[in-house]
Amino acid sequence: MELVVVGLPGSGKTAVGKRVAARRGAAFVDLDDEIERAAGARVPDVFASEGEAGFRRRERAAIEALGAPDARPELHRVIAPGGGAIVDPRNRWQLFRGRRVVWLDVRPEVVAQRLRRSPNVRPLIAGRDPMGAIRDLAANRQRFYATATRVAGVAEMASVVDAVEAALDAPVAPGAVLLRADTRIGRIVIGEGILASEVDGALRDVDARRAILVSEPGAWAAVGEALARDLGAAGWSIEHVLLPQGEATKRLSIVEAAAGELARLRVERREPIVAIGGGALGDAAGFLAATYLRGIPFIQVPTTLVAQLDSSIGGKTGVDLEAGKNLVGAFHQPAAIVIDIAVLASLDARQRRAALAEAVKMAALGDERLFETLEASGAAIATGDPQALGSGALAEVVERAGWAKVEVVLADEREAGARIALNLGHSLGHAIEAAAGFHDLLHGEAVGYGLRAAARIGVARGVTPPERAERIERLLDALELGVAPLSLDLDEVLDLLSIDKKHAHGALRWVLPTADGHAIDADVPADLVREVAVGVLAGRAAQASTAGAVAR
Ligand SMILES: NC(=O)c1ccc[n+]([C@@H]2O[C@H](COP(=O)([O-])OP(=O)(O)OC[C@H]3O[C@@H](n4cnc5c(N)ncnc54)[C@H](O)[C@@H]3O)[C@@H](O)[C@H]2O)c1
Repeated sequence: MELVVVGLPGSGKTAVGKRVAARRGAAFVDLDDEIERAAGARVPDVFASEGEAGFRRRERAAIEALGAPDARPELHRVIAPGGGAIVDPRNRWQLFRGRRVVWLDVRPEVVAQRLRRSPNVRPLIAGRDPMGAIRDLAANRQRFYATATRVAGVAEMASVVDAVEAALDAPVAPGAVLLRADTRIGRIVIGEGILASEVDGALRDVDARRAILVSEPGAWAAVGEALARDLGAAGWSIEHVLLPQGEATKRLSIVEAAAGELARLRVERREPIVAIGGGALGDAAGFLAATYLRGIPFIQVPTTLVAQLDSSIGGKTGVDLEAGKNLVGAFHQPAAIVIDIAVLASLDARQRRAALAEAVKMAALGDERLFETLEASGAAIATGDPQALGSGALAEVVERAGWAKVEVVLADEREAGARIALNLGHSLGHAIEAAAGFHDLLHGEAVGYGLRAAARIGVARGVTPPERAERIERLLDALELGVAPLSLDLDEVLDLLSIDKKHAHGALRWVLPTADGHAIDADVPADLVREVAVGVLAGRAAQASTAGAVAR
């Protein structure tokens, strides 16, 4: 067994960790010491000479150098990472899997007192308002600390050490939780191998008396059946309702039939359902939960990459009509979203690749680290290379893209303003998807073309720096998105653009990438849209760069 002790700077990770290690005859590793040894310099000097980025690179290398955890039952090693190490998803992937993690919870006020007395003022909080800086650190890291077993860190040293030892001896759920956040839009948990324990916890939290699982044949075979077995073994009485697979599930008639099933099962107002599936199942089951008895709680278990990094987050539920997709729906936030990276292993390569278009969108909206991760590992994720899972790259993409969406939605839950950013690449994308009849192209594949269009329109409008547009297109090239020519009717595509829901007073509001974010442009001339649509539909070979775009 190995133990990782996390907490704010000054929470006592080293002091407590050393004593726990001494009591159990285990080794103690202070990661900052390892970094100092490798750099031949003190941490503040590494910050001064290499900047925070240089320090973080060294920190990642030190964590990788720890190697695999020792799985034998007695405690072998106690690891105390620096306070900021666990902010990086890849570090948590390396550190948390296969290890016990304990969080020394100490209030920011206490940390500030302790650091004031410390001879080494920590570089990240040295400044005019150390208290404010520590409070910000605590708030920004809460979702990472909350993955661990909490131990109150303010007490006599011996009793803190006792509490950590008690945590070591307590049974733990299998798998690794990488992020846990209780937010206004539900609890969000990301991890690996956590499905049964987290769904069990989410059901208890809403006082469920049984587990009513709603799924479709594909997700049921890949994920649902095993989850039902595990929940049954944990003592839950299980009911399940299967809807059709794929987009066919998003119909009012299907929701009506499913509501009939819930009535037959005598589902009551406060009873939750658990939606197990991709975006289509989540949208339909979410709408069922939004409307049955005027709204019952639901738990999202997203089983596709689209659903994990996009559709399960944000509370948009709905079904399609003949006239268009998602035309009937409701905002209904889930009680919990349980994202288990392990369930993606069975997903087919086409689904995985297409889903990455949504991750490219979130990167283009201003997440530099997500951009870099996709540039380094996106192609491997798309092809299903096991290395992309093993290295934590897939988990990092899910977390970064998913959390970026959480932040956008928290800022604008009902799409009154900032949430329109999520439409980047979706105006032309939706039109292309509709023109292809919603069956020849996956949603993400269509968004790949839409992102190229937004970048090219952005360059022509002077909103997107050409090098930013090039970077977006290069990444799409590497992921093989929006590359092949499409033989769609141009006028039909342009016609379909006119029913985009992002219209205000008749003008389509284009979301265009800027150097590090987005801008809205409601005045894009129709002839520019036509010209760009022609180029995008011709495929990448025909339009090798954005450089030829005309400025308007
Ligand atoms: N609500 C939102 O905010 C939002 C956002 C984006 C997309 N969407 C919607 O999401 C839908 C697309 O989602 P999707 O791509 O997940 O489609 P999907 O739900 O149809 O799933 C795709 C396929 O994958 C199979 N599958 C599911 N989990 C699997 C697993 N673990 N292993 C193997 N196969 C598995 C399914 O059976 C299905 O055949 C669209 O309807 C779109 O409108 C909604």
